[in-house]
Amino acid sequence: MKLKIAVLAGDGIGPEIMEQGVAVLNAVAEKFGHEVTYKEALCGAHAIDEVGDPFPEETFQTCREADAVLFASVGDPKYDNNPSAKVRPEQGLLAMRKRLGLFANIRPVETFDCLVHKSPLKDELVRGANFVCIRELTGGMYFGRKQEPAVNDKGIEDALDTNYYSRPEVERILRVGYQYARQRRRHLTVVDKANVLASSRLWRKVAQEIMVEYPDVETDFMYVDNAAMRMIQEPRFFDVIVTENTFGDILTDEGSCITGSMGLLPSASTGSSTPVFEPIHGSWPQGKGLNIANPLAQILSVAMLFEYFGLKEEGALVRQAVRASLDQNVRTPEIQVEGGRKYGTREVGKWIVQYITASQT
Ligand code: IPM
Ligand code: MN
Repeated sequence: MKLKIAVLAGDGIGPEIMEQGVAVLNAVAEKFGHEVTYKEALCGAHAIDEVGDPFPEETFQTCREADAVLFASVGDPKYDNNPSAKVRPEQGLLAMRKRLGLFANIRPVETFDCLVHKSPLKDELVRGANFVCIRELTGGMYFGRKQEPAVNDKGIEDALDTNYYSRPEVERILRVGYQYARQRRRHLTVVDKANVLASSRLWRKVAQEIMVEYPDVETDFMYVDNAAMRMIQEPRFFDVIVTENTFGDILTDEGSCITGSMGLLPSASTGSSTPVFEPIHGSWPQGKGLNIANPLAQILSVAMLFEYFGLKEEGALVRQAVRASLDQNVRTPEIQVEGGRKYGTREVGKWIVQYITASQT
């Protein structure tokens, strides 16, 4: 297969983990005879510094023309504590999602047996937890009408975000949820706050209407506060969660704790244009340049990329290599066992590339 990949490494640890992601992609492509070409493009704080825009037009075109985007992370501390910054790196990510129509964000939460002790939760609770959160990505409060902080006509400073959803937006993401449920354990949990929010009542109404089309899938409904609790009390309860943008953002950070490290979770975002594959963690500026960032979320995003194009064996090989590296204690510091040797970002990447190259498939 020929694949054109747009490479958006972004900020912080982004370029370091991207290097390993690309190296793994190349190793697998070589093994299976795929022809992969890359085009790098600017985004995030990096792009603001260079061209004054966190998602420049040229980057958009590069993404549009590619078969897939491999994305790392954006963000820079110089913007975090400056609420009046006119332009922020995160806007680049949001612009990318909106302009590429990436309404479905797929975030699998899978535990590795050898790492369950790294989770702040009890081993026996998290062992075997395996669910996927389908987060709506182009609607809700992130994109609804906004008013930045300003003094109103009563002399009080106020601000506003609107949690807007339309029926088609809700319906299409629910259907993505059902498709995933059908390929998994056929259990879909719709997470909302229908006891309070009108937008959630629309979600629930639409879900109750379409669930009858999927009688083979067990559908249940859960308020988001309850879901947050259940996720740490009994993570194995979940198979597929489908939820709105903001709830999905929060729940997936919580989900990452189940696995023991944020550096382990990949994601895929799909919609009307080029799909994007990216780790769910951020740019971790404190870790930048230290060769300590875990490249596995980026590498597992490469596995999701292959799987998206139906290249199952390729995806499986990446996953097998990742599992082997963990089993053999080739790990970055945050997940290394006590007294074990701490491997750097580059060393973990290199080990995985070698494993792939040497494999017999
Ligand atoms: C994520 C991130 C983004 C989000 C930020 C960086 C805008 O937290 O992908 O989860 O809130 O969606
Ligand atoms: Mn987030």
